[in-house]
Amino acid sequence: MLMSIPHLLPRRQFIKTAALGAGGGLAAQALGPSALSAAAAENPRPLRVIHMTDHHLMDFMNQRGSQAGIEAAYAHAMSLKPDVIANGGDFLTHSIERPLADMQKDAKIINGILPTSGVQVVNACGNHDIWGWKKSKSGATGREPLFGKNFFREYFGEGALYRRVDLGTWTMLVLDSVQPWEEGYQGGLDDAQFEWLQGELSASDPAKPIIILSHVPVLSAGLMLQDTRLGPPDDHARGVTMPKGSCHQDLWRVADAFWRHGNVKVVLSGHVHVDERIDVLGSSYLSGGAVCGSWWIPREQMAIRATRRERKMGNPHLIRTPRADPGFRVFDLYPDGRFDHEYVLFPWEFVRE
Ligand SMILES: [Fe+2]
Repeated sequence: MLMSIPHLLPRRQFIKTAALGAGGGLAAQALGPSALSAAAAENPRPLRVIHMTDHHLMDFMNQRGSQAGIEAAYAHAMSLKPDVIANGGDFLTHSIERPLADMQKDAKIINGILPTSGVQVVNACGNHDIWGWKKSKSGATGREPLFGKNFFREYFGEGALYRRVDLGTWTMLVLDSVQPWEEGYQGGLDDAQFEWLQGELSASDPAKPIIILSHVPVLSAGLMLQDTRLGPPDDHARGVTMPKGSCHQDLWRVADAFWRHGNVKVVLSGHVHVDERIDVLGSSYLSGGAVCGSWWIPREQMAIRATRRERKMGNPHLIRTPRADPGFRVFDLYPDGRFDHEYVLFPWEFVRE
């Protein structure tokens, strides 16, 4: 069965819709068309950032049309004339447990799709971009030159995994949000990275709003629907819990640091494949959906599969809700910290498995 994805609104309509529906700034919700024109006159050229996350190329598996889907996503993104493409991680799939050769092949395919000119590309590392940590399945010894995050550095890296990127009117801080845990991973920052973050925040130019790029979310409501489980029925102290890999395990100190700084306007994340926005403590936390949507199958189908899986695992009370359609989020960032945004679907058709 083939399904059509709706096309993006024309740019003029995007601006109008986003300005009326978005809240990035106090002003955005209240602005009518004439006030919007005034704002546009004040800021004639906002910075256009496209957040593309969770591509999940599946070349080594059955593909599900993933390569064509990613190519369509970038073609559409580039037609929107971004200044910056902020890649939120998870270009690949299951790299933590797959043979190196499979992952190298897929990484080269992605490298052939990423734009090489006309736009600034910033890449954050996702848990699916790290090779071999699950040694019992990947066959890695840990001594290979491309083991772990070196794999990401080799194919997608730009120096430090966490770093500051000057975007002109805004500052971007890229986080390395995936940390090792046994043979797997957990979300969060180690102490050295948290110290770095605090230093960057306190030394940042107060005139420039800050946008954060993290793979694993600091805060996410969609995550509660997707990753939580209920504790044992006879344990009255333990209710809803979530795995270590779901969100930053140090979310309290990170959210507190953003609030204390006062000019962290946008916090981007991927990982959960939901399209959401949470405004709290002076920052807007936006999950960027996913380029692959629900791993390249219709989101309702994925929700049914995930719910069935939970039933098999002995969680009959759980309903897994649909995630995102394949897409990415387009931002227009204004120098005064306001922003407009919209989750945009690109033209693509699901492939029958
Ligand atoms: Fe992820």
